[in-house]
Amino acid sequence: MPFRLLVPLGLLCSLPPPHLGAPGPDGSAPDPAHYRERVKAMFYHAYDSYLENAFPYDELRPLTCDGHDTWGSFSLTLIDALDTLLILGNVSEFQRVVEVLQDNLDFDIDVNASVFETNIRVVGGLLSAHLLSKKAGVEVEAGWPCSGPLLRMAEEAARKLLPAFQTPTGMPYGTVNLLHGVNPGETPVTCTAGIGTFIVEFATLSSLTGDPVFEDVARVALMRLWESRSDIGLVGNHIDVLTGKWVAQDAGIGAGVDSYFEYLVKGAILLQDKKLMAMFLEYNKAIRNYTRFDDWYLWVQMYKGTVSMPVFQSLEAYWPGLQSLIGDIDNAMRTFLNYYTVWKQFGGLPEFYNIPQGYTVEKREGYPLRPELIESAMYLYRATGDPTLLELGRDAVESIEKISKVECGFATFVLT
Ligand SMILES: *[C@@H]1O[C@H](CO)[C@@H](O)[C@H](O)[C@H]1NC(C)=O
Ligand SMILES: *[C@@H]1O[C@H](CO)[C@@H](O)[C@H](O)[C@H]1NC(C)=O
Ligand SMILES: *[C@@H]1O[C@H](CO)[C@@H](O)[C@H](O)[C@H]1NC(C)=O
Repeated sequence: MPFRLLVPLGLLCSLPPPHLGAPGPDGSAPDPAHYRERVKAMFYHAYDSYLENAFPYDELRPLTCDGHDTWGSFSLTLIDALDTLLILGNVSEFQRVVEVLQDNLDFDIDVNASVFETNIRVVGGLLSAHLLSKKAGVEVEAGWPCSGPLLRMAEEAARKLLPAFQTPTGMPYGTVNLLHGVNPGETPVTCTAGIGTFIVEFATLSSLTGDPVFEDVARVALMRLWESRSDIGLVGNHIDVLTGKWVAQDAGIGAGVDSYFEYLVKGAILLQDKKLMAMFLEYNKAIRNYTRFDDWYLWVQMYKGTVSMPVFQSLEAYWPGLQSLIGDIDNAMRTFLNYYTVWKQFGGLPEFYNIPQGYTVEKREGYPLRPELIESAMYLYRATGDPTLLELGRDAVESIEKISKVECGFATFVLT
């Protein structure tokens, strides 16, 4: 089936959602207004609990009611929450947090940071809050969007990541010390997502700051990955960034790879870049040819195409959303419904689900509240207005409140 091109897609995506009726306990469509309030209350339960028990650490531990540093020492939850505060219309709290970050955020610290996580969470969190702030009613400084405190913090964080890209291949190391650069003896093995998940933030940063270095390094890394695909058009899971040799040769759409594909599509849309989209569409052909069975996606050996792991991972649940972004609605819906049956079976998505056995995989039964399936439902709903998608939204709120809510926040739960 031919895919729609970007321009008509843009139109498709900007259609307003269809009008929705009243709530229905009796099987009619769930009422979005009711669930909007519930979600808001859930956000404040977690957020206030973080402020009370965990700030200034990165994250809250909801069972022991204390905080700890996870990805650095950034008060990461505050950065993560910035754009959500704007979406919820809480401008005063947003402004308070921006001031707290301005006074406390320091990237000149002796911390070994994940290049990938620091980009998507810190750089991405700061940039999206920066870009949303004016529309949300925040008073912005002169020169915005090319100037502003959040943009300056994002740029400072991103500069700390640049030494990781100084490799013979241009593909980055996975870890960098924020103070000293890449540690001597650092492992050169990086996962595919850790190489191909920069273009959205780095191209945005280059266009806002006028410094091309960010977009340039992101593009080089993407080109190297593209050139490293196998003869049958697949990429593996981990590669040596010094030699360019694949170290883990499982090809699939989940852990270790996932956001690479996501960033090709979202980068293509954001930058109106046909080359990025063309790369994704080539991968998509090989993925469908070798890894798809009955609208499930398995793991295969990247050179031979033989199945290595017949497993669905909860991280893969972004895929129907991605398919709907490229206009491939029918396939998106079929795969979404497969994943939704797993949700209904367990009341959440286990980390790993063995497809032929129809059950969870030992030690991978946890559901750490990943948003991917809900995000897919959102994209698909925006494209189709199909009320089945709202049911997943309702099920997610009900499950998470029932099984995961604890006094100090929300905790991972085990599905069996
Ligand atoms: C904004 O967030 C703060 C902190 O959770 C809260 O105290 C305040 O009531 C919120 N304001 C609005 C308008 O929701
Ligand atoms: C960072 O990693 C290096 C190399 O593994 C190690 O020697 C160093 O102690 C680590 N630094 C911190 C602050 O953990
Ligand atoms: C699909 O797989 C077959 C082998 O199973 C191969 O011959 C063919 O070239 C592949 N097509 C694409 C588009 O990958």
